Amino acid sequence: MTVPFDAIALRYDELRPAKGEVLSALSKRFKELHGIRTLLDVGCGTGRYSIPLASQVGMQIIGVDASKKMLGEARRKCSTGTWEHCKIEDWVTQTKLKAVDVVMFAYVLQFLAWPRVFEQLFRNLNPSVVVIVTYEPKVFPSALYHRFIPELVQIDQERFPESVSLIEKLRDLGFKPSRQTVPTLEVVRTARDVQGIIDKGRAQYCSTLSLVRPRVAEDGLTKMQRSLLAEISSKPLVVETQHTVIVATT
Ligand SMILES: C[S@@+](CC[C@H](N)C(=O)[O-])C[C@H]1O[C@@H](n2cnc3c(N)ncnc32)[C@H](O)[C@@H]1O
Repeated sequence: MTVPFDAIALRYDELRPAKGEVLSALSKRFKELHGIRTLLDVGCGTGRYSIPLASQVGMQIIGVDASKKMLGEARRKCSTGTWEHCKIEDWVTQTKLKAVDVVMFAYVLQFLAWPRVFEQLFRNLNPSVVVIVTYEPKVFPSALYHRFIPELVQIDQERFPESVSLIEKLRDLGFKPSRQTVPTLEVVRTARDVQGIIDKGRAQYCSTLSLVRPRVAEDGLTKMQRSLLAEISSKPLVVETQHTVIVATT
């Protein structure tokens, strides 16, 4: 599946800023770990999470991403990182790989044949910590865009692995995983807030939106705009999203 991250790279951080709650949860967990000096960020994108984490915890980043333009943004923000343009499935077969302390997968497993990628990466890099940030498939029926574009629900439920499967695989590979749910809240108060949500949808800020036909997306967004404007006329709308964070240690 090809997802056009190059097309939104320059606006990615503006459209999908790192969530403070997720960053704080990750930062707290990283600070509890000892001897963590190198972080491999798989599908690092613009380094939304790894760049602030590395500076808070004092780690060197190796970021690998299939999108040249997403990497360009990461490199612009952090010139001391090592940023490699490659699909992770190809990168892991290189012979010059060195051990790393942490391997992080933030919002990327939906693009990967993850059981095989885990096996290859962990065998070749021998990390002591694995960090995963993702969404549980069960969150999608009530997610904001998915409520108005129902085709997205099935697409995302098929793409995103359940954390029980991830945990089982990590245990099989010798890790001790623990899972945490991090809720984030977005309050929609004004017509301008609603317009911002519609514009983000049109910009395909989230990759699933590029996987439905443009007409389906546009009809859903039009319906969404009408419905959200009606909802906020009586009281602000609070959108809660549950993020799943798994930290696995050896
Ligand atoms: C949703 S973005 C998340 C980016 C970053 N991890 C973050 O949390 O901001 C997914 C990223 O994974 C990259 N990606 C998708 N498939 C990949 C693959 N097979 N190998 C490397 N990168 C991949 C995309 O180019 C994109 O930058």
